[in-house]
Parts: sequence; C-alpha cells; structure tokens
Amino acid sequence: MKISIIGCGRVGTTTAYTLMLKGLAREIVLVDVDEDKAKGEELDLLHGTAELPNVRISSGDFSLISHSDLVIITAGIPRKPGETRLQLAEKNIDIIRGIAEKVLHYAPGALILVVSNPVDIMTYVTQRVIGNEKKVIGLGNVLDQLRFRSLLGKELNIHPQNINAMIIGEHGDSMVILENTITINGLPLSQYKTLDQGVLKEILHNTRYGGAQVIAFKGGTYYSVAIAICQVLEAIIFDTNEILPVSIVQQFEGKEVPYSLPTIIGSTGVIRTIDINLTTTQKGELANSVSAIYSMIKELGI
Ligand code: LAC
Repeated sequence: MKISIIGCGRVGTTTAYTLMLKGLAREIVLVDVDEDKAKGEELDLLHGTAELPNVRISSGDFSLISHSDLVIITAGIPRKPGETRLQLAEKNIDIIRGIAEKVLHYAPGALILVVSNPVDIMTYVTQRVIGNEKKVIGLGNVLDQLRFRSLLGKELNIHPQNINAMIIGEHGDSMVILENTITINGLPLSQYKTLDQGVLKEILHNTRYGGAQVIAFKGGTYYSVAIAICQVLEAIIFDTNEILPVSIVQQFEGKEVPYSLPTIIGSTGVIRTIDINLTTTQKGELANSVSAIYSMIKELGI
C-alpha cells in the first residue's frame, strides 16, 4: 500500500516510523511545507530500512502522492496549552482546505484519514472538498477509546487488549464515554468487583482530558496518536471490517455534522455506521456533543 503523509511534524513522522516498524506500507511519501524538514525525516527513516520490512520512502512536493492508496493529513498548527478548539480551527481551516484540494488533484482515488485538529472540523473541511463521505475518515474518538482502554488496563493490571468501551461524539471535552459498553474480556465491568467507582471516575476524567494533560507536560501528543492511526490503517489495509469510532460527516437530526459513531471500516473506507441503543442520558450527551461541533461549524462559517 502506498501511503502519503502530509505534515512532517511529530505526529506525521511518528506515524511514518510506526508504519515502518509494523510493515504496513510498501511505500511512504512525506510531504511538508518545509521541504528540508521532510527530506531530513526521509533520510533519517531511510537509514533504518535495512532492518525493517521492505518499504520505499521518499519526500517532496504534492506531485509525489499520485496513486496513493491512502493519504494521512497531520499538517496544521498544533494546539497550545489552554487554546480552545475553536481558536485552533480558525488557524487550520485554510491550511487543511488547501491540502485537500491538492490531494483531490494529485490522488483523487485515495482514502483520506484526517488527524489534524480540531479533527471533526478538519474532517468536515476535507470532506467538503473531496465530496465523498465514505472516503474521508477522521481519527475521531479512536484515540480516546485507545486511551481509556490503556488507562483502565494499567489500573486493573489487565492487558488492555481485553478491555473495550465505545466513545462517541466529538473528539474533545464533550465526548460521550458510554460506560455501559465497558467490557473486560466480554464481561461487563459491573462483574468486576475490584474497581472502585472513584478510580473509574478518575480514569474517565483522564481519558477526556488526556490530550490536554500530555500537552501541558510535554507540548504535544504523538505516540498514542500514531498507534490510533495505525488501528484505522490496519482495518483498511487488511479489510478487517473492524468497528471503530471514527469521525465522518453524517446526518444528526436533519443537520450534516462530522462526529463519531461506531463505524465499520474496510478496504474501501467507511462501510457503514452502526445504530446503537443509547440511554436517555447518553442521547442528551450525544446531542450536546454534536451541537458543540455544529456550533463551531456555524461560527466558522464553513
Ligand atoms: C489528542 C490530540 C490528537 O487528543 O487531539 O492527543
């Protein structure tokens, strides 16, 4: 699979490195507004290829992305501590729109995974250019779900692969963590007497604000982001029909809004979303979350 990564910041380059370690790409193209940065990352990664699964790596301008199977958009100005998602969106809209237009021109057949933040808004901007909501996938709540599973696994000293939970809505403070979907090896959490409710509350909090917590300590998030990106890529590359809470542009109460629901992902991108039963409280939380995204779209005039 030919995968092009737009943006050679910490997320883009960590993603390239993770793809190489996992052997997920036959060819990786790196594109950045700073071509020297892209060249430096290309050479640094290239120098390790002799001991990794075979991969061709290159960097340069957008013309190199032609015939990409997948384009990952990580470019944009990263969120600063204390910055709101709306403030960030105002900075990144034109950048992402310009990238989407180049992707449409040079790689019209590619699937697009949008990572740049605020990811729901950037997914919407990209989809408005590309015009096919089945091929424009936002990372959405995949990272939040990964964070929750990992945090709960550490707390219970259980491998997080045994843990699952569904998170929907905005990739942001209003995300909806569906507590009644938390399972450990298929068993509902309620069957595990060892988890104190106070501890669970703390894990839910650290999931919701995990990105901001890491940004406050070290200025940015990228390792867990790259792993979440690879979760989506593996569903596409291996056509697994995995269910992931990705962000796509979809209808909500008659409005077109980018947000996350459980979605089946395969080789052609979005197969379909899955309607799930929500409690009255969860329905209200989802409406609030989607409304937060829709309000941003209206405020930004996009
Ligand atoms: C985070 C960024 C990617 O949650 O939004 O780490």
